[in-house]
Amino acid sequence: MCGIVGYVGDRSCTDVLLDALEKLEYRGYDSAGIAVIEQGVIKVEKCKGRLANLRDKMAFDGKPEGHVGIGHTRWATHGEPSDINSHPHGNKRVTVVHNGIIENYRQIKEFLISEGYSFVSETDTETVAKLLDYYYTGDPVDTIIKSLAEIKGSYALGVMFRDFPDRIFAVRKDSPLIVGKGDHENFIASDVPAIMKYTRDYYLLDTNEIAVIKKDDVTFYNIHREQLYKSVHTADWDVDAAEKGGYEHFMLKEINEQPNAVKTTITPRISDSMPDFTAEGFDAAKLGAYNKIFIVACGTAMHAGMVGKYVIERLARIPVIVDIASEFRYRDPLIDERDLMIVISQSGETADTKAALELAKSRGADTMAVVNVKGSSIAREADMVVYTHAGPEISVASTKAYMVQISVMYLLAFELAYGVGRISKEQCQKLTEELQEIPDVIQEAIGLENHCQYVASKLVNADSLLYIGRGLDYALSMEGSLKLKEISYIHSESYAAGELKHGTISLITENMPVIAVATQSDLVDKTISNIKEVKARGAMVILVCGKEVVVEDGVADHIIRLPEVDQMLMPMVAAVPLQLIAYYTAVLKGNDVDKPRNLAKSVTVE
Ligand code: G6P
Repeated sequence: MCGIVGYVGDRSCTDVLLDALEKLEYRGYDSAGIAVIEQGVIKVEKCKGRLANLRDKMAFDGKPEGHVGIGHTRWATHGEPSDINSHPHGNKRVTVVHNGIIENYRQIKEFLISEGYSFVSETDTETVAKLLDYYYTGDPVDTIIKSLAEIKGSYALGVMFRDFPDRIFAVRKDSPLIVGKGDHENFIASDVPAIMKYTRDYYLLDTNEIAVIKKDDVTFYNIHREQLYKSVHTADWDVDAAEKGGYEHFMLKEINEQPNAVKTTITPRISDSMPDFTAEGFDAAKLGAYNKIFIVACGTAMHAGMVGKYVIERLARIPVIVDIASEFRYRDPLIDERDLMIVISQSGETADTKAALELAKSRGADTMAVVNVKGSSIAREADMVVYTHAGPEISVASTKAYMVQISVMYLLAFELAYGVGRISKEQCQKLTEELQEIPDVIQEAIGLENHCQYVASKLVNADSLLYIGRGLDYALSMEGSLKLKEISYIHSESYAAGELKHGTISLITENMPVIAVATQSDLVDKTISNIKEVKARGAMVILVCGKEVVVEDGVADHIIRLPEVDQMLMPMVAAVPLQLIAYYTAVLKGNDVDKPRNLAKSVTVE
């Protein structure tokens, strides 16, 4: 949700900023802009639309020449995407790029207007820039501290002062920002991939910390102006991980990375064919002692939690409540110190998930975060952290992050079930060994690509679709449906197959294709009955099922047969064709697969 970059060094600042912003475009892409100090003057270039528009504009205007600057790619919150609302904002003396929301910007704006300031944009960000100008004392850190005291909300800010042309400033509260440490050059960025081409070393900026970034040094302060000393982190993946590597889209690359991502995630947590979370600081006994478990997340991560619920309840017989984070936090949930809260988040920065985690902590519950981004806010706040090792996920539509999240859900379920004595050591080992086989099976499922492409060609003209399934298949249908909606813009809904007849079946016509998932042997016959109900009403049916399932002629128009695995693990296999169907439908529609309209990958606002 909005990308921020900044650079101080000897290179062409404009080139570095544009290059880094390109890596952050997944965070927002409705407008882009940069500010560069050119011969002592802050020069701003910005416009509505993709980064490519900004490049075109500068090809015409001439690009700012300098070595110090900040940049931004926007996901609009206050004010429509427009040239004027694009960041940076400010005046000749101070300029700002911002990610987050300033909640009290109206009051600040009114105050500043009464002090003689005028505003050109509808953004909350412009109020921050003008507030910094208002409080300007000649000492930037002092000015930032004074201004922050007036601001409520969440923010990551990149700031430049004309009077200090050799440096940029960064500060954050609840929105992500890192400081990249190079060799005679330094950076700021919302996320590590932005700077990977230049350095793998970075500092994590904490809430209410201020960084002063110069070419040869970075100084950190807290809001009491005490200097802080921070350790350097090094990204453990290389620059290729954030590049397309020959694939047409990041999404397709990331689908193909799933076998390896799962292997890398589960292998360190398995010893002697048993789940082993001792490195994460917990074990089966600890997990087994909780009264109930809440799994809270947003979007795709919440769907991974749905799979977790089915598996944990089935194996460990502990009640699991799955909730959408934005709902959990506002419904006074019945959670207390006897409960465990698991939050799942790729980015580790999702505002609602983070707030839900904080609420659970305030009620005394133990908290565990299943997170992909190291050092992210959620990872830092939770009592226990299980890092997924998917590497950077760039495509806005999540695939490999979902897959690794599910793999962790399985391992946790096995650990729990063993911890509470519901399964024997031998059973636990058998399940774990089967999970270890899954990367190869996912690879096999990726081999269904051509078939999925064909199915996509049958769906591309549909206006609306239904995904149906029962139990684990229903949990998976939710993700299949979301994937299709996100990138193909075709409306779809996932429905519990048995519930269809209680209303939604009225929607079925020959114009409403149905994707049915039937991988669970105890439910397959029932799902097939539901398929017959929609088929009888004219729907085109695509059935995703195991190799062995017996399907009478005429029940489905297309059948995608999955490689066989233990049926409990089937969601990890069946997810692949659903991802590929969504992908190829979006490709056939000519959509921007990796950057679907209106979306952003990391949602750091409520
Ligand atoms: C956004 C993304 C989704 C993602 C959700 C949760 O909506 O577009 O793909 O599932 O946020 O993100 P998180 O980083 O918390 O997993």
